[in-house]
Amino acid sequence: MTRTMLEPLTYDPRGLMIEGTGLAPANLAALAGRLEQARSQVLEEARLWASGTVPAELEPLDAGFIDLPDRLLADYARDRAGSELARILAAARRLAGLVDRVVLLGIGGSYMGACALFQACCHPCHNELDRGERGGRPRIYFEGNNVDNDACQGLLDLVDHSRGPSSDRLENSWGIVVISKSGGTLETAVAFRQFLAALRRACGNDVADVAERVVSVTGSSGRLFELSRALACRDVFFIPEGVGGRFSIFTAVGLLPAALLGLDIVALLNGAAAMNARFKAVPPGNNPVLDYVGVCHLMEVLRGAHVRVLATWGKGLEAAGFWYDQLLSESLGKQEKGATPITVVNTRDLHSRGQQHQEGRRDKLITNLIVDRPRREPLSVGRSELDQDQLNSLAQKTLPDIMAAAIEGTNLAYADDRRPTADLHLPRLDEAALGQLFQMLMLATVVEGRLIGVNPYGQPGVEAYKRHMNAILRGK
Ligand code: PA5
Repeated sequence: MTRTMLEPLTYDPRGLMIEGTGLAPANLAALAGRLEQARSQVLEEARLWASGTVPAELEPLDAGFIDLPDRLLADYARDRAGSELARILAAARRLAGLVDRVVLLGIGGSYMGACALFQACCHPCHNELDRGERGGRPRIYFEGNNVDNDACQGLLDLVDHSRGPSSDRLENSWGIVVISKSGGTLETAVAFRQFLAALRRACGNDVADVAERVVSVTGSSGRLFELSRALACRDVFFIPEGVGGRFSIFTAVGLLPAALLGLDIVALLNGAAAMNARFKAVPPGNNPVLDYVGVCHLMEVLRGAHVRVLATWGKGLEAAGFWYDQLLSESLGKQEKGATPITVVNTRDLHSRGQQHQEGRRDKLITNLIVDRPRREPLSVGRSELDQDQLNSLAQKTLPDIMAAAIEGTNLAYADDRRPTADLHLPRLDEAALGQLFQMLMLATVVEGRLIGVNPYGQPGVEAYKRHMNAILRGK
């Protein structure tokens, strides 16, 4: 295992230490005891969940996500061939060898994690590269996350190229990964019906071929489970009990698409397990989970920072930000509580939301999500005989130099106006760093829930629209 080699994510709240509008070290010190209590509660809940003795008053309690990375890794170390990870890797290899396009159907927690991993870790133009440049990995498209007629048909147009005389060519071959824990989510189910019909046509109604090309990830019962059985799908993965949708990125929900794309899912889980170890052992003041919760909570209650801006720097983390938007909103947006998350992508959004963040209401906490080193060699501005743009004076500067100046300059501009910020640093944009980040944010969300007296599990509010929509559709 590479856990000892892992470069840690760091949380640096020094930009918050602004008298009057930010926090003082004493504020954080005063909260330390309550944070430790919330941590103990969360760990006790994980223990209760694992022992199968959750008292009724704690339900719903989906604490199964907490030790999941450790369990999966231990299982893999013990049983290289028969473990869940081995099954995921084998199914991913098989499907990647069979098809060149995968349509991933899912919504909410059954979609956002996979999308975040794809955007952060794959080549930015992955789908446009040829198969060799993609390392033999399929292109991926996300659907079933809406009921947009034209978007759905647009993707059907694309995959339907596999019909006709060249349909046996690998580059025209496609498959479906359908993900739904409940198995009954309308958006995903309707899309599955459309894409399954198209796939059956593409396979000339060959039942065995369809069964090879549809992989489902679902609960151990429900409509999708039944449908997968009827299709005799070769690979079906189960989302374990006690892991809620938005906490399921380290189940087959996130791991299967990641493995399909050739990502290192062991490194991802090692990152998550390393975050667990820090969370459990390290005191507040040096514990990214507890420190992040402490800062966010205090900024909200002491300074009215009800809007939590996750300012990602670079293009790879927008989907990770959207994943966090869902996690925070569905977990803590209850009982008229819970901060409002917003994801921004800088420097892009300095040219849109930047004005408001610099001079608007003082209701925001800005957390910068910064990647310390790019994956590729730094690109220089370079010299040109066409210097009308006057960039020759910056010829030696690289894009990472400009990014670093933008981050520092923006933080200084906020600080000049007494607007506090905190920085979350990922050493690189890779699986190990993302594993740490996702686990940190999931742990932080449940700790904060316990701190403010909100059950972070379950999402009763999401049911209201579904009730109305179903009644309207069925004419009741
Ligand atoms: O966090 C959750 O549980 C939800 O956001 C679900 O992930 C989302 O509603 C999709 O549900 P399902 O996986 O059952 O289709």
